[in-house]
Amino acid sequence: MEPGKDLYDEIKGNWHLKVFTKQQPLILELGCGKGEYTLGLAHAFPHRNHIGVDIKGDRLWVGSGRALKEGIQNAAFLRAQIQFLEHFFKKGEIDEIWVTFPDPRPKEKDEKRRLTSPRFLAIYQNLLKPDGWLKFKTDNTELFNYTLGLINQKKISVKNMNFTHDLYDSEYVDEHFEIKTKYERKFAALGETIKYLKFQFQ
Ligand SMILES: C[S@@+](CC[C@H](N)C(=O)[O-])C[C@H]1O[C@@H](n2cnc3c(N)ncnc32)[C@H](O)[C@@H]1O
Repeated sequence: MEPGKDLYDEIKGNWHLKVFTKQQPLILELGCGKGEYTLGLAHAFPHRNHIGVDIKGDRLWVGSGRALKEGIQNAAFLRAQIQFLEHFFKKGEIDEIWVTFPDPRPKEKDEKRRLTSPRFLAIYQNLLKPDGWLKFKTDNTELFNYTLGLINQKKISVKNMNFTHDLYDSEYVDEHFEIKTKYERKFAALGETIKYLKFQFQ
């Protein structure tokens, strides 16, 4: 789904009617790059519909091509800026959101561009079902601590929060579902641990 294509401006509320063959829970991956995680989840969870979102068409092309080639019916890709997600999804329509290895944006002036900054989290809260999960994976300690800091400072209100600074040496290890993207493999090879946080909005 990208600008200029049929349905791009009419897809809001119509994902189940127009894109997927089965009405199933909707899972988003934000900043999905080449869609490795979206496709991995689609394989692991055939009874859910998965949508990878990214702004870079060449990366989405790789994921969409794989989905077509492998005949995957429960995955789709949306080319869009994540700040405009509400143009494509209805309030409370999403069951789970994954933010996987987002750009860390370390400069203070770029805080509002971080995919876990308050303005993005407000969008996710609006789109998620009341008990929907936000799941966040990163190799980047600063971005991880920044996100935990927002919660500790009560800039966002959450429940059922769990986190680990080392996913593969934690009780949440099963929650990687045997999926590792190129970014994850690259940073793990450099000796970075993978940090993982999940919560529901209050
Ligand atoms: C570091 S890559 C990670 C890709 C993928 N999640 C992975 O693990 O391989 C970050 C991705 O987020 C996308 N991205 C960053 N900010 C975005 C935004 N505001 N809207 C849409 N995509 C964005 C970039 O285009 C890039 O593909």
